[in-house]
Amino acid sequence: MNRITPSILAADFLHLSENIQRLEKAGIEKIHLDIMDGNFVPNISFGPMIIEQIRKVTDLHLETHLMIFDPEKWIDRFVDAGSDAIIVHLEATNHPKNCLEKIGRLKIDKGISIKPNTHIDKIKAFLPMLDIVLLMTVFPGFGGQAYLSDSNRRIEKLRKTIDGTPVDLAIDGGINTETIEQAIRAGANRCIAGSAVFRDGDIETNLITLKNLLDSAF
Ligand code: DX5
Ligand code: ZN
Repeated sequence: MNRITPSILAADFLHLSENIQRLEKAGIEKIHLDIMDGNFVPNISFGPMIIEQIRKVTDLHLETHLMIFDPEKWIDRFVDAGSDAIIVHLEATNHPKNCLEKIGRLKIDKGISIKPNTHIDKIKAFLPMLDIVLLMTVFPGFGGQAYLSDSNRRIEKLRKTIDGTPVDLAIDGGINTETIEQAIRAGANRCIAGSAVFRDGDIETNLITLKNLLDSAF
């Protein structure tokens, strides 16, 4: 179940602890926390305080996706709150290398995410420093969007770019029963999914359906 990473943006925030326990019982190992500042993306989600609360109720690996400008100013705060991985957007900072070095010094997983209109080649310079590349398959800012049609080509290109390295190729946005197989076949090895996991509150059934499709795609 490690190939599916639920984004809690789509969870029931009034029953977040219960939702997380259900993810744990279903075999999920990692959850994805979407942090939005209302500037880098046209939406505001939640901050370090929520991560502190989540950290108190679970040992799951907390992957923090910073969709915020100047992430270098916030890395310590999100790590102190309990993040196990920090992913910054290449488009959101003038100092991506400093961000990655800082995250590395804090001994947690480090990643870069790129928007759908950022060229894949922009990642190359950072590959030796990366644990994760998070390829956006929607424009960041909201859950429940449609998987962009150019995503498979971009996944294939990124797969070729990172082949031979241990970098985790994760994709994010619009992953559901219609898109998960093609995304895996294109070369993704991990899928972030929000609405497809929490849809209708039936977490367990949704995860089993996605996992069965994943297994058939490998
Ligand atoms: C979008 C976020 C995604 C999103 C995924 O900005 O980075 O993680 O929550 O949601 P779905 O799976 O509903 O597209
Ligand atoms: Zn995300």
